[in-house]
Amino acid sequence: MFEKRPVIALDFSSIEEVTSFLDKFPKEESLYCKIGMELFYQEGIEVVKLVKSYGHAVFLDLKLHDIPNTVKSAMRGIAKMGVDMVNVHAAGGVEMMQEALIGLQEGTRAGGVRPKLIAVTQLTSTSEEAMHTDQLIPVSITDSVVHYAKCTNLAGLDGVVSSAKEVALIKEATHKDFICLTPGIRPKGGEVGDQKRVMTPSEARKIGSDYIVVGRPITQAENPVVAYQKIKEDWSNA
Ligand code: C5P
Repeated sequence: MFEKRPVIALDFSSIEEVTSFLDKFPKEESLYCKIGMELFYQEGIEVVKLVKSYGHAVFLDLKLHDIPNTVKSAMRGIAKMGVDMVNVHAAGGVEMMQEALIGLQEGTRAGGVRPKLIAVTQLTSTSEEAMHTDQLIPVSITDSVVHYAKCTNLAGLDGVVSSAKEVALIKEATHKDFICLTPGIRPKGGEVGDQKRVMTPSEARKIGSDYIVVGRPITQAENPVVAYQKIKEDWSNA
């Protein structure tokens, strides 16, 4: 499905690198690109404009977490950039997430589509032990992820960023259309890098992931277009 094509993590540090990467793809190939902190804080809104100028969709992965009013105002500005998806930390609380949604609605131009809003539950870099000692959350990491997913749903958001392994539990605790966007994807036989638990695109699809995020297997490939096509095929044909 068009909407659910694999999301490419544009983990580059300059507009020049992004341009040279995007120029490799045929004009008619409409991509879904993730712009994270690294790129955004170096190039700012110009990089969003650049990616949109190719006709590509943009997931702005800035993981906002602040007081509700500040997040609402920030989201108003983000919606004006014309991005398609954005995120917050669920740890900011239900009220913060509700205000984020209001900010996005207010910033969306009349007749336009509000960007999708998803939440980060527990970062996959957080171990259960660190969660216990740093955050003083006494439950298991899975229980904490599911709890945050429920809070996200209660606040009216569209979904969460999660490990593909958590999708079934999250959908069960929320509803089947609750978006689960999953990084940590590697093509069959691909380099794992620093990702600890990985799945192939078709495995992620089969267990209910709605969007996959893939970075280095595409951006660092000898031929990024071929690498992308293979991942897209594996994802679409699952
Ligand atoms: O290169 P790779 O495919 O590992 O990139 C995955 C992308 O998804 C990166 O931008 C990374 O920051 C992001 N991400 C992740 N794991 C999470 C959340 C985000 O890998 N839990």
